[in-house]
Amino acid sequence: MKVASYIKDLVPYPPGKPIEELKRELGLKDVVKMASNENPIGPSPLAVQAIKDFLNKINFYPDGSGYYLRRRLAQEMNVKMENIVLGNGSNEIIELLKRTFLTAEDDEVILSFPSFSVYRIVAQAMGAKKIEVPLKDYHHNLREIKNKINENTRLVFVDIPNNPTGTIVYEDELSEFIDGIDDDCLIILDEAYFGYNTGKDYPDILSFFRNNKNVFVLRTFAKLYGLAGLRIGYGIGNEEIVDYLNRVRQPFNVNSLAQAGARAALDDKKHVKQTLETNRRGKEFLYKAFEDMDIEYIPTHANYILFDVKQDAEEIYNKLLHKGVIIRLMKGYGYETHLRVTVGTEDQNGKFIDCLREVMGV
Ligand SMILES: Cc1ncc(COP(=O)(O)O)c(C=O)c1O
Repeated sequence: MKVASYIKDLVPYPPGKPIEELKRELGLKDVVKMASNENPIGPSPLAVQAIKDFLNKINFYPDGSGYYLRRRLAQEMNVKMENIVLGNGSNEIIELLKRTFLTAEDDEVILSFPSFSVYRIVAQAMGAKKIEVPLKDYHHNLREIKNKINENTRLVFVDIPNNPTGTIVYEDELSEFIDGIDDDCLIILDEAYFGYNTGKDYPDILSFFRNNKNVFVLRTFAKLYGLAGLRIGYGIGNEEIVDYLNRVRQPFNVNSLAQAGARAALDDKKHVKQTLETNRRGKEFLYKAFEDMDIEYIPTHANYILFDVKQDAEEIYNKLLHKGVIIRLMKGYGYETHLRVTVGTEDQNGKFIDCLREVMGV
């Protein structure tokens, strides 16, 4: 088969190992998955009910414009419906942005390394020139990213919090960064973990969209609302940008069940509250356990924690798998001695720490 070298060299996105696969492979009964930053308490019950109620209408194509969901989101965020584009997960919008704006051979995309791996994969799949700027002390190095921007730079991805480190950038840093960047360079602020950080230090990301034509914000229903399996996310941007993305996307990119579930999830304040409370308590427990074990961790602004076992992390990862605990290996992110764990329920966190103690002998 004739295929471009950049496709041949692609390393596929490594998803967290599925629970059923591990049970089958190792003959285990009790397995916990804390690898993909999913919501450990389950999906929003209101979303589940809305999906059930909609099931007998799936003979119809979905509303291709996602009218009701966009209207609801527009009200929620006080933006216009024309500022919102829906995607089959925010992953699809990342792909749409690249298909829409990386069109010339010289076009460049800038991202941090490590950051959400899909930015890299999609850029490479398109044969685009990608510039990777190393994190500095686990944080985005916005100064260095700005230094790399030139007249060919079309897209810059900044995930806040960064995945996998969980760190954020602050309001003044972000203002300084965005100030003076040409409108032809689109800055994508990926807020996939929107809602988890309610602290004062967390920047008002939407305000950057309001004040800058070239700022585009990404959000998802996969995390806070527990709807990762439905595949639904959204982008908020200037009307012109959203219009282009709408032309490029497939007409029915977001299915009807996802639209119904997402709308209901927005009303599910109880589920959001429980999610945040579980995460807060889980973080506290895991921080304390890491400290007791003398394990260095990066304080997180999201629902996952990066920690450093100061030895070959793959060995620890494999030993944990054999005990029925799936977390995330960070080799592909350039960290040989780090692992990332999703904050789980009380039981999951307890099992993870018990097993980690055993395999590390501490
Ligand atoms: C920073 C970041 N952006 C986007 C996503 C993907 O979201 P979605 O499930 O909506 O495609 C993730 C998922 O882990 C993420 O960490």
